[in-house]
Amino acid sequence: MERIFSGVQPTGNLHLGNYLGAIRNWVKLQFKFECLYCVVDLHAITVPQNPTELRANIREVTAGLLAAGLDPAKNIIFNQSKVSGHAELAWIFNCVSRLGWLNRMTQFKEKAGKRRDNATVGLYAYPNLMAADILLYKATHVPVGADQKQHLELTRDIAQAFNSMFDADFFPEPEPVIMDDTARVMSLRSGTNKMSKSDESDYSRINLTDDADIIALKIQKARTDPEPLPGPGDQFSGRPEAENLVGIYAALSDTSVEEVCAEFGGKNFSEFKPRLTEIAVAKLVPIGEEIKRLSQDLSHIDAVLSNGAERAENIAQPVLSEVREIIGLI
Ligand code: TYM
Repeated sequence: MERIFSGVQPTGNLHLGNYLGAIRNWVKLQFKFECLYCVVDLHAITVPQNPTELRANIREVTAGLLAAGLDPAKNIIFNQSKVSGHAELAWIFNCVSRLGWLNRMTQFKEKAGKRRDNATVGLYAYPNLMAADILLYKATHVPVGADQKQHLELTRDIAQAFNSMFDADFFPEPEPVIMDDTARVMSLRSGTNKMSKSDESDYSRINLTDDADIIALKIQKARTDPEPLPGPGDQFSGRPEAENLVGIYAALSDTSVEEVCAEFGGKNFSEFKPRLTEIAVAKLVPIGEEIKRLSQDLSHIDAVLSNGAERAENIAQPVLSEVREIIGLI
């Protein structure tokens, strides 16, 4: 059986990178597989969070998943901290995973920066918790953006190491599902940095809750170069900003980069940007409005999360019991 698991941190607004790189694909997968989608609040607290904002963000991100089109009856939508098995299995994986493996994680290096000694142990062990998220449900496929690939490789290493330590054919080695075209949506301010919640400039990203005027302004201000757009088959070499905007247009209009270049090749950005704005507004503003509407109905959001947690728990408990048995706990 194929089972999908993926997660998103409630660390701020959902943005176009989250949407195109991950959530839009989750929406497509929900019709074919059993899916669990998790708001990973325990991951969020690996860096300092304001408790009031965290609570609001957990609900807003959940609203974002629903507004983007995930059906809470069909999918299991829940927040991580409600199912204690995530933390329990993460501890067990802390005793399977190796320092050497974690030392290679580029995301820890980026997030900890120069003040490495000051980073929390939680931030360091973050990938072990991520492995626990996935393997607690014996998930087989994990749809993510390209930035999560290394964490997925570590998850596979942990599954393999557990199986071999205990001579058990127990955990599957989950496959990453990364959509090539939208795996890395880049910042609107610099085509070499990924679009991210943590970028100081709000002009670097389009948030799912941005209204039409803000989207238009951000696209108008998006960095480009003075050359016209390339034609089909031409290279984007050395033009990461142009490549990013064309990629976003292709993804939002469900066409290919080739087709966008066929339509806009030789034209200037002054002509392309209003068209990009049009499609971005048409696709994103309804989602943003739905997020705002749902965010008014906290009891509905909380009911979705509680129901999801209950269903997740039902899958997790038997897996955890077997893990305890395998490793000799009573
Ligand atoms: P997070 O919250 O940073 O991002 C959620 C999803 O959005 C994708 N993403 C992007 N894709 C393309 N371009 C971008 N600029 C961009 N920015 C973000 C991410 O790849 C991700 O798929 N560690 C994870 C959360 C997590 C998880 C898990 C994921 C915790 N446990 C288990 C899968 C399975 C994270 O920080 O995602």
